[in-house]
Amino acid sequence: MASAPGELLAPTTVTAHGLLLRPLTEADEPEVALAMDDPGVLRWAVGRNVAATPLPLRARTWLAPRLTGWATGTAAFALTDAEDGAFLGYLGLRDVQRIPDQAVAGYWVTPAARGRAVAARALDAAATWAFRRPSEGGLGLHRIVLDHALDNIGSCRAATRAGFAEEGVMRESFLEPDGSRRDSHLHARLATDPSPDLGTW
Ligand SMILES: CC(C)(COP(=O)(O)OP(=O)(O)OC[C@H]1O[C@@H](n2cnc3c(N)ncnc32)[C@H](O)[C@@H]1OP(=O)(O)O)[C@@H](O)C(=O)NCCC(=O)NCCS
Repeated sequence: MASAPGELLAPTTVTAHGLLLRPLTEADEPEVALAMDDPGVLRWAVGRNVAATPLPLRARTWLAPRLTGWATGTAAFALTDAEDGAFLGYLGLRDVQRIPDQAVAGYWVTPAARGRAVAARALDAAATWAFRRPSEGGLGLHRIVLDHALDNIGSCRAATRAGFAEEGVMRESFLEPDGSRRDSHLHARLATDPSPDLGTW
């Protein structure tokens, strides 16, 4: 689907590896609210403002900019089970079109869905779509980056498994909700990189 006038990205669905990635909707708020009470999501994935928001308002605060994300340059996907539609998590490609041909990936998986490589599967699905030419329904990106605090081993594993090679350490780039700073790993995958072997899950 082409983007509407004034919108940067056309809302899109992607199916791969047993997942359906679809645009987030308001109806996802109860599932998002559960995730917004998870210590890992709060520490690593939502930023200080959302983490400091009282729980009853947290999901709405996090969701609002993502519901309008497609119009403003973020491909904001709900990760769902392709068979039964169960909500499994979130993956966003943000800053699309800020730097030509590049974007930044962020993600979290609900506690109940962890341990099945959802993040790696979703990263590969989203990257494969985003690297396709616009004439083939993709975004025509060349490079997608992500970063994670060095302590976040699960995120490092997911990124590596999805073919996002480690490129180096970004000193004190991660700000914890308590205000302390951590070094982060920078990972990236290029359109020209080989497809990863995702293994089994
Ligand atoms: C990081 C996250 C998305 C991974 O979820 P997932 O896709 O279910 O990942 P899995 O549980 O299948 O684990 C992926 C890999 O990491 C490993 N892993 C997971 N947690 C780990 C931990 N605490 N320590 C060491 N290894 C860990 C798993 O063994 C697995 O390794 P493998 O690929 O060699 O089999 C999820 O834990 C999460 O949402 N965390 C909180 C939010 C977050 O950190 N988001 C990323 C911000 S950069």
